[in-house]
Amino acid sequence: MTASSPPGSTEELLSRRVRAVLDGTGESWTRRMFELGRRLRAEGGGPVYDLSLGNPSLEPPPAFFRALRALVEDDTPGTHRYMTNAGFLQVRRFVAEREGRRFGLELDEECVVLTVGAAGALAVTLRALADEGDEIVVPAPYFSEYAHYARHAGLKLVPVRTTADFDLAPEAVAEALGDHTRIVLLNSPNNPTGAIYGAGRLNELAAVLRRHVTRTGRPVVVVEDAPYRDLVYDGQTPASMMSRYPHTVHVTSHSKDLGLAGERIGYAVLSSELAGRRRVFAGLSYCNRTLGFVNAPALMQRMLPEVLGAPDGRVDVAVYARRARTLHAGLARLGFSAAPPRAGFFLFPRLPDDLVARAPAGVPADVWFAERLVARRCIVVPGTAFGVADHLRLSVATDDDAVAGALDAIAAELDAG
Ligand SMILES: Cc1ncc(COP(=O)(O)O)c(C=O)c1O
Repeated sequence: MTASSPPGSTEELLSRRVRAVLDGTGESWTRRMFELGRRLRAEGGGPVYDLSLGNPSLEPPPAFFRALRALVEDDTPGTHRYMTNAGFLQVRRFVAEREGRRFGLELDEECVVLTVGAAGALAVTLRALADEGDEIVVPAPYFSEYAHYARHAGLKLVPVRTTADFDLAPEAVAEALGDHTRIVLLNSPNNPTGAIYGAGRLNELAAVLRRHVTRTGRPVVVVEDAPYRDLVYDGQTPASMMSRYPHTVHVTSHSKDLGLAGERIGYAVLSSELAGRRRVFAGLSYCNRTLGFVNAPALMQRMLPEVLGAPDGRVDVAVYARRARTLHAGLARLGFSAAPPRAGFFLFPRLPDDLVARAPAGVPADVWFAERLVARRCIVVPGTAFGVADHLRLSVATDDDAVAGALDAIAAELDAG
């Protein structure tokens, strides 16, 4: 050790919580596969067929650039200062009115907290609603970052099964509800499966939760994470718990549907019927401030009404739909099975049975196969990352060449078997 080197290793400075993630298998598979793709690209040697990440491939719509240019020109004094932690009043009113129409609820500005993307909204909501040790019931497969969000808030994730086609199984949620359950976390349309939870199943879940609340006297809150809700291929609006169960917080962002993942704008919408709703609003605002966000980016807040109200304020979901259908058909020809794609960025096909049988003992077949594909310059995420083995998650937030190349790589790997 030299005089200038600090005592102890860098790792020892990290909290146990973070060390456990960096040292263990807990770091995100999605990130790991994405990094592999980045490394392959940096090394050169031809194209990389990277279907690992849900990074929007469509540029934001024309209305976004128009709004941004106008906002940048606006030098009204005070425009760039701090504001109420929940966000600008006029923007919250706009969102409340728009979301209220969607859900058939009378919402006001104290139903909306503008956040740093959906991830920020989830961080704020989990911290505001649950105490250390509380449980979050989540249907699997689920977005792998949920495990990290729960870890940061000291919460325990309780995964429950879904149906064969990844629809919600209310009876599985019912079985998992216990004294420590605080939140049921839903994600529809789903990452990684693309499933949209059916209205009938949400009705059943509402009935299950009402019975639980009556029995225990303690509301379980539904947190409904829906950043893909405006990327449904047939244009239908996905069913929501907002109109079915009073204790619901709807979380979303414009990372995906406006292609603004880097700009970080989203919101939490509280049902007007939520127990102690104004106090919950105050709690979320407090968490927005003290988790270090303070408020959502001011320019992006101001942009929202301009873009969402414009006729050209949309990305063309048909591009993702067409690519998803091409990928689905190609995979089906190769023996993979998945429900027809309906929404969002992802397909979650099951590996052919003979491929599962070929995996070495002790290694999940999806992890084994995804690693073999890397050698063919094809990057996908194993289903194990989302709590369900023997599946792969493939993203269509890429380009047509990557989809074609990935299908060729998968076919070649199957042939090589
Ligand atoms: C299901 C789900 N929830 C939340 C997020 C986070 O979205 P945002 O970038 O708006 O924070 C993502 C992003 O991939 C997601 O897939």
